[in-house]
Amino acid sequence: MTTPGASRYHEVYAAWKADPRAFWGEAAKAIDWFTPPEMVLDEKAGVYGRWFEGGVGNVCHNALDRHVAERGDQKAMIWDSAMTGESAAWTYAEMRDEVAALAGVLREMGVEKGDRVVVYMPMIPQAVFAMLACARIGAIHSVVFGGFAANELATRIEDATPKAILSASCGLEPGRTVAYKPLLDKAIELSIHKPDACLVFQRPQAQATLVAGRDRDWAQAVADAKAHGRLADCVPVAATDPLYVLYTSGTTGKPKGVVRDTGGYMVALAWSMHALYGVEPGEVYWCASDVGWVVGHSYIVYGPLIAGCTTILYEGKPVGTPDAGAFWRVIAEHGVTTLFTAPTALRAIKKEDPRAEHLARWDLSRFRALFLAGERADPATVQWAEETLKVPVIDHWWQTETGWAIAGNPVGLGALPVKHGSPTVPMPGYDVRIVDEGGRDVPPNTMGSIVIALPLPPGCLPTLWHADDRFRESYLEAFPGTYSTSDAGFVDEDGYLFIMGRTDDIINVAGHRLSTGGMEEVLASHPAVAECAVVGVKDALKGEVPCGFVVLKAGVEASPLAIEKELVGLVRERIGPVAAFKLAITVGRLPKTRSGKILRGTMKKIADGDDWAMPATIDDPSILDEISSELSRRGFGRT
Ligand code: COA
Ligand code: AMP
Repeated sequence: MTTPGASRYHEVYAAWKADPRAFWGEAAKAIDWFTPPEMVLDEKAGVYGRWFEGGVGNVCHNALDRHVAERGDQKAMIWDSAMTGESAAWTYAEMRDEVAALAGVLREMGVEKGDRVVVYMPMIPQAVFAMLACARIGAIHSVVFGGFAANELATRIEDATPKAILSASCGLEPGRTVAYKPLLDKAIELSIHKPDACLVFQRPQAQATLVAGRDRDWAQAVADAKAHGRLADCVPVAATDPLYVLYTSGTTGKPKGVVRDTGGYMVALAWSMHALYGVEPGEVYWCASDVGWVVGHSYIVYGPLIAGCTTILYEGKPVGTPDAGAFWRVIAEHGVTTLFTAPTALRAIKKEDPRAEHLARWDLSRFRALFLAGERADPATVQWAEETLKVPVIDHWWQTETGWAIAGNPVGLGALPVKHGSPTVPMPGYDVRIVDEGGRDVPPNTMGSIVIALPLPPGCLPTLWHADDRFRESYLEAFPGTYSTSDAGFVDEDGYLFIMGRTDDIINVAGHRLSTGGMEEVLASHPAVAECAVVGVKDALKGEVPCGFVVLKAGVEASPLAIEKELVGLVRERIGPVAAFKLAITVGRLPKTRSGKILRGTMKKIADGDDWAMPATIDDPSILDEISSELSRRGFGRT
């Protein structure tokens, strides 16, 4: 435990608790509203209350236009592609013009306020322009991560029913060009809902074939809009109107459409940029995630721009593009003060360059802090990063649903002492409790379910897209009066939180959130599979990777090995490469309780080589021996 100077955290958290409305009312002054909110919180509105009712504003105005007068010549965004070796930058004034022209194109395509627009794009500047252009005209964007396959994209198109889709010809992954357009065409074919129009950005690495009457060339359309002055202004949007819908893995194959509102999100992000991350306008902030994830929405695009920072959009990996010094190069070349990434990225760097020899080549003198999230930050990785980088390394915990950190170490308020393995303390707005199965608070250092007392703070989801009931069932019913995070953990005697794992079927693979239930649905659809179970097993690099146990139907002629290969291919085809599903293991039987419940937890413990106890309710204990020996034959568990 390290001990930095005094922190204002306790005083600020107490002030929020004493008067939440006054706290968020004050924070809302950071936003340039067209009409200030009439109420900070309307407890009776929505499912559990709505923030900033009566307020009218525009996120794009706050992210771009309002900064043009004061910092129009400052870089708003730097695009750095380690994949192509290119780098480019846009000032606030230039970016406003790009976005206004693209927004004009959206208008021509018939997109109006409240319409949905799906964005399926790689890490190129046009992806950011697309999000902001939607925000500018009050359209609701729904960004789909490029590592998802056509099927997953189709599910999202069907649920969001977009009027238009914005995409690009390809993404670039090490050693391969990922053609996006065939995936997009397939998804539209699979989906019952069809968009009216698509706008496609042609990258030089691959040319997409455009469908006549539906697809338009991006560069041409934007050039025309600029030439004819068809630029769109920021439209007034209610604080409670949605800015975006972001789909995330749920406990079934059907993803949940997390809704983000306009006003609360702006206020929460603005507060977090100075109080949590400790960055000032004009500084360079880099979130090395992807715009397809919530982290990318909040801290590649909206947070840094609302705060008047320079944001970095990085197309590349922490290693192999070209080496384990890639992150240090970006920090040095662009003067990054604050980096936010996933622990997996650091584990990858540490594995390639354990003595951090690449660091010596770069000047990191402006670098002040490293933030980690997306999965548990294991103490060994945090310690390595602290010793190597000699800056505070801050773990913080959040979810797609919350949109910003539930818990963290607020550098801007003065950092608290760090405890490895803990994302430190709840942020103002979050009354975090640890409860037992009956919803009763448990004493310090006792594991339990982590819940947050309602109302959730500004920035968190007000509901799921067109699914209030699913929202209630998924999050609010288990422990009445609270939001259930589906994470388990404990609070220590100093009030530090420890997040130990999920209580549902979600796993985190390289910081990517995936549902094992969704993978089971894919495996079960194979004609040779009688039953299956997917669990997340420990992985030194990615934290966890999925492992599928399958029982084949009697009389299947193909060899188990051939079917295992087909199953790996099937998950890649249906869910996408991001699932990192490479392990399908054929077994004779699955272990179950006497009531027929598959003992996934016990299988996971065996695969991880952890201690496990024979479940009292097990139907046939000998099946666990069969699973153990199959796993050890493949090098898992206690071999
Ligand atoms: N489009 C298409 N395919 C993609 C993709 C995208 N946007 N992103 C990832 N993929 C593919 C990868 O190419 C890989 O394919 P492969 O099986 O053919 O190798 C597969 O999906 C799995 O990707 P990933 O789990 O990311 O592994 P990786 O080997 O490519 O890279 C790391 C490993 C550690 C370098 C990488 O996972 C990483 O940088 N992680 C940081 C995580 C992060 O930023 N998370 C966001 C939340 S904060
Ligand atoms: P996502 O919605 O993709 O951001 O994933 C959210 C989940 O990732 C959480 O519910 C946690 O299980 C996990 N997670 C995110 N950040 C952390 C963290 N700092 N420590 C532990 N788990 C985390």
